[in-house]
Amino acid sequence: MLYFYLKPNITIKSKTYLYKKYSQNHFNMKNAIAGFSKLSKEEKINWIANEYFSNPNEAISTIKQYWNSDENLQKLHDEFIENTITNFYLPMGIAPNFLVNGKYHSIPMVIEESSVVAAASKSAKYWSTRGGFKATVLNSEKIGQVHFIYKGDSEKLEKFFSQIKNKFFIATESITKNMQKRGGGILDIELRNKTNELENYYQLHATFETKDSMGANFINSCLEQFAKTLKEESLLFDDFLEEEKNIEVIMSILSNYVPNCVVRAEVSCKVEELSDKNISNPKEFAEKIIQAIRIAEVEPFRAVTHNKGIMNGVDAVVLATGNDFRAVEAGVHVYASRNGKYTSLSHAKIENDIFTYWLEIPLALGTVGGLTSLHPMVKMALEILGKPSAHDLMKLVAVTGLAQNFAALRSLTTTGIQEGHMKMHINNILNQFKTTDEERKLIKKHFENNAISHSVVVEFIENLRK
Ligand code: HMG
Repeated sequence: MLYFYLKPNITIKSKTYLYKKYSQNHFNMKNAIAGFSKLSKEEKINWIANEYFSNPNEAISTIKQYWNSDENLQKLHDEFIENTITNFYLPMGIAPNFLVNGKYHSIPMVIEESSVVAAASKSAKYWSTRGGFKATVLNSEKIGQVHFIYKGDSEKLEKFFSQIKNKFFIATESITKNMQKRGGGILDIELRNKTNELENYYQLHATFETKDSMGANFINSCLEQFAKTLKEESLLFDDFLEEEKNIEVIMSILSNYVPNCVVRAEVSCKVEELSDKNISNPKEFAEKIIQAIRIAEVEPFRAVTHNKGIMNGVDAVVLATGNDFRAVEAGVHVYASRNGKYTSLSHAKIENDIFTYWLEIPLALGTVGGLTSLHPMVKMALEILGKPSAHDLMKLVAVTGLAQNFAALRSLTTTGIQEGHMKMHINNILNQFKTTDEERKLIKKHFENNAISHSVVVEFIENLRK
């Protein structure tokens, strides 16, 4: 072991090779470090605390405050990602009373934004007395592509592909065996000529059924084998000239755009049944909701915010169940623009005096693999949801998105969004000002009957403290 100095005031214990690296290249470079990944967790924390904080000890103690006291649990979390220094908490809330296809569910939601869980809960409760949600998985096909460059006669490439197509299936048998036992596997492989978009660019465009797994590893393993087979077989294809045999594979990767992995969530009831203690004119209410949706259908600026409201619900359940919300977000938004213009993901109509309100979104989700059996809170979320299949989870995520959208539109077209949002957000303001229990009681009492805004609450706290 060696001790060396990063800055005059910090000493870091490290190994010889690290010392060499630093002394060779980066010793004097501020904010750059070689070999950070090789430092121990303690050393990483020390480096960050000393590099970026005027009070390193305080920073270190905040970082460690979020460690779990159970060392094994902490180690599990440390190893989910790389260079872990601590945990970052997000709250998990429950939205109860979701009646979906005739069965009640409580939905776990992980999100940092106040009012989202309350809004989903309010919609769930409202629709539970109006027939509940109906959800249907329309299809569940995943997609992956091998992108390659071929500088030759495209007809020859097509002939080559049709002759060797079966070899892609044979070469991946060891990868697909278990998936096939579960009823999934490779559905089809197509050769796609993209040369009118990019010179010499072709694809193997493959479709997959991955059952209860999201399927990323399975798909990528298949694709990498397809790429190998493509190159190997091209060398043996007699019709190719020598230069045509030189197929250049650029990359093999799944697509997060899954337009044939779509779920539909819907609510409907007679227009008159929409009334409740705050909706005295249900026809006017329904028409306003439909008009709000029409605006989101034609106006991209509004559509983005409208869909963001849907994703408030979708992402919160996707996160709680350990799924990849970046993949879902990317896929959903390209789906919203599939006809050349970004538009609303939800729709509504009145027909024969029935109000119908629905959503169709692509969702590639898994309930096995990934974090699902590793993260204790993900396991718990899946248990609360009744250990759903991937199809069931698609339905539950979609109905949460629809519920969230309905709550937002209900507020937007009636009271305005701020009333409910600020009612929920008030706790954040009270925390920001470190209010005492006594102050909280007085503040909450006052704002039961007064409009809430950030500045009004702040002013009230300041007056209270004078
Ligand atoms: P409210 O009418 O004041 O609620 O609504 P309530 O006190 O009458 O309670 C009715 C039910 O709402 C409750 O039933 C709960 O289900 C739920 P109960 O449990 O009493 O049997 N509820 C709550 N659940 C948990 N904790 C609470 C709570 N309060 C009510 N504290 C509410 C208040 C906030 C629900 C309503 O105003 C609302 O839905 N607002 C919309 C909020 C929203 O959409 N938030 C998302 C953030 S804004 C955004 O990012 C998206 C947006 O831009 C999208 C877009 O533009 O389309 C808006």
